[in-house]
Amino acid sequence: MKKIILLSFTILLNICVFAQDTDRFYATMARQDARELKADAPDQIDILAEKGYEAVVFMSPSAAELLHGRILVHGPGYIFKSSYDEAISSINKTITTTSSRMVFNITEDEKVNEALALMSVQNIEDHIIELENYGTRYHTLAPGTQSAIDLKAKWEAMAALYGRTDVSVRLYNHNNTPMPSVIMTITGAQFPDEFVIVGGHLDSTSNQGNNDAPGADDDASGIATITEAIRTLFEADFVPQRTIEIMAYAAEEIGLVGSGEIAQEYSSNNVNISAYVQFDMTNYNGSANDVYLITDFTNSSLNGFLMQLMDHYNASGAHQFTYGTSLCNYGCSDHASWHNEGYMAAFPFEASFGQHNPNIHTPNDTFSISGTADHALKFAKLCVEFLVETAKHNGLIGVSEVSEELYDIYTSNNTLYYNFDQYDATIDSIVIYDIAGRAIVAVDDPENEGNISLGHLSSGIYIVNVQTTYTEFVNKKIKID
Ligand code: BES
Ligand code: ZN
Repeated sequence: MKKIILLSFTILLNICVFAQDTDRFYATMARQDARELKADAPDQIDILAEKGYEAVVFMSPSAAELLHGRILVHGPGYIFKSSYDEAISSINKTITTTSSRMVFNITEDEKVNEALALMSVQNIEDHIIELENYGTRYHTLAPGTQSAIDLKAKWEAMAALYGRTDVSVRLYNHNNTPMPSVIMTITGAQFPDEFVIVGGHLDSTSNQGNNDAPGADDDASGIATITEAIRTLFEADFVPQRTIEIMAYAAEEIGLVGSGEIAQEYSSNNVNISAYVQFDMTNYNGSANDVYLITDFTNSSLNGFLMQLMDHYNASGAHQFTYGTSLCNYGCSDHASWHNEGYMAAFPFEASFGQHNPNIHTPNDTFSISGTADHALKFAKLCVEFLVETAKHNGLIGVSEVSEELYDIYTSNNTLYYNFDQYDATIDSIVIYDIAGRAIVAVDDPENEGNISLGHLSSGIYIVNVQTTYTEFVNKKIKID
């Protein structure tokens, strides 16, 4: 009852306040930004709802100005919504996953370390400078399209050099830009229909005329990073069991156009993508840590897995680097195109947001700002770790059983029962895999105690994978008669 009174009071209050100012408008923005604005200019903005990292606000143009002033070289910092309902439904939009879930685990130390040792910082430097030398890769200009044609040839030559017959490279033509994207496909040996994808954008832009847009960090660095990762996998003779694609997008800078069209097509064809990782800006070392995982418009299980990878491979020794997390505040790069289609996406970024390369989108975004590709090399390492550990075989091999005393998981009468009440962890998901590693049943955010009907599964051995918040997960083998 108390709640209802309070709610109606708030609504009444809001109507009174909003009625005074007809210039005000609805928007969604980062929850953190909304709260800070509210603290600084309480009369200019109202927070109407919050969900996850996002907030729905009703604000004045002067609040928008204030926000824009803080967002640096970034876009406006909010997304305009034409009505309250539109704003609310956009933050409540539940993104339904179109792909089956895979087991994230780390088992391939030998192959990963072999590939990491083959990596060349010089190759990354050379490739960044090669792309910078187009002068511009703006999506409507001739050098932009030429850079895509040349990248296709470069990737093809790379595959040929290592005698790869499982590789093909294509140009992807778009509806809303004359520039094509470039896609390399390495067909999976065991599960060709399951994809792991990494990408970055090939186009560039400049706020001082698009003829002078070297785009070295934004985003020649990302293209050079994924190219060197793939080259080392070829040199290490890595044969993926799932299909790997690497993508260099057209027209990111005008609103994620290239990746948006590709992600929509993959989604409407129900392409099963296990995970996607974006590399956009990897070579400016602006913060205390090296890699910053962007935690909005990305998937927390995948972010957790990338953290596990860095804990495992990069915490000490020759490949050591550090990581943190940051927010982009909205869908600031191509990962958002995949995220919006319901795929698991992640975005490891060069610095904490705001401490990133200040020269992007200007004629000064050149390699000389960094002078070395050391920073990008760390991202190439993470890219290799991700690709090897997700594109590998994972059926029964490498799956550890849990002890009965630790977690209460059992089957009876074609039903799986589980009870995690006595443990502290929050359960993110329970996924049941067949022995080939295919997800058969997935339950997100389950209660701590419950059951799942298994009546529809044919008899055989299955793996129950329980993923808990961030880093921990357990596997248990079950038998269905
Ligand atoms: N590389 C940037 C994104 C970026 C910039 C991330 C600064 C973090 C810090 C990307 O190329 C870009 O410019 N994105 C646009 C938005 C996009 C939807 C056109 C931006 O951030 O303004
Ligand atoms: Zn940009």
